[in-house]
Amino acid sequence: KRLFVIDTDAGVDDAQAILMALSYPDVEVMAITTVSGNTLAIQIPVFVGCSEPLLGDVKDNDDYHGKDGFGDVPDSNAPTKENMQTEHGVQALLRMSKEHEGEITLICIGPLTNVAIATRMDPDFGKRLKACYIMGGNYRAVGNITTSAEFNFHYDSEAAYIVLNKLCCPITIVTWELCKDHSLEWDLYDKLRSVETEKAKFLRKIEKKAVDFSHANLWLKFIPCDEIAMATALNPGIILKSVNVYATVEFKGHFTCGQMVIDWEGSLNKKPNIDVVMNIDDNKYVDMLFKAVD
Ligand code: BDR
Ligand code: CA
Repeated sequence: KRLFVIDTDAGVDDAQAILMALSYPDVEVMAITTVSGNTLAIQIPVFVGCSEPLLGDVKDNDDYHGKDGFGDVPDSNAPTKENMQTEHGVQALLRMSKEHEGEITLICIGPLTNVAIATRMDPDFGKRLKACYIMGGNYRAVGNITTSAEFNFHYDSEAAYIVLNKLCCPITIVTWELCKDHSLEWDLYDKLRSVETEKAKFLRKIEKKAVDFSHANLWLKFIPCDEIAMATALNPGIILKSVNVYATVEFKGHFTCGQMVIDWEGSLNKKPNIDVVMNIDDNKYVDMLFKAVD
């Protein structure tokens, strides 16, 4: 089986991304590590990781994901004590990377605090991973939390800087603009959530706040993010175009803190460190969204 570890801040798109991974019988989700971002915790063997970014304070994203990250609705599937492990998320990442050297695909769908600390504690951490897929950053300087930064990279911009520059493993990035480019028409979203399964009902319930927020802000489409990162990790064949470039992260700029900076013309003379996904196959991706709620 392919071994996946999911590092997540447990928002509504994280939930659907996790369901997508669980819909692949050849994938074993070995563990979930949690990080501060939208919220703190959920299911499977859960290792609680960092509860604050490297610097600064917790910033909320409640209007979209809700205070509990799952739309603030009564939830009979809330994590039980049995799911929760006592080992810290960062220690768990380091341990699993040693126990399964070269086998783990790490999917990061929240701020990168845990992965940055793991990298600082053990610079060889990334070398023991098979690959890392990240939802975060932007390539046209279009932001969703500030004018020029995407939420996960802005939330912990120092961590994003460390991961891009020091992780040393094949990194694939799904940016905010890619998610916008492949957002879902409302009709399609409604179809996806009208499927009569428990999974679809659950997502419909927890996404209500996000959907209301999207309509209130006149968003023309529903914008899933973490699902695309997960989809590319599960099936890299959906990637129609990606570019191998050197990219870093601004963590000082007053207006640009958390912006991903790509050296498009190679003027920094640095070795490429990421593959940025530029286009995906919408039909295949939508099939995966349906499969996730089946
Ligand atoms: C990212 O920020 C969070 O709100 C989402 O879960 C996603 O990981 C999108 O910018
Ligand atoms: Ca997330």
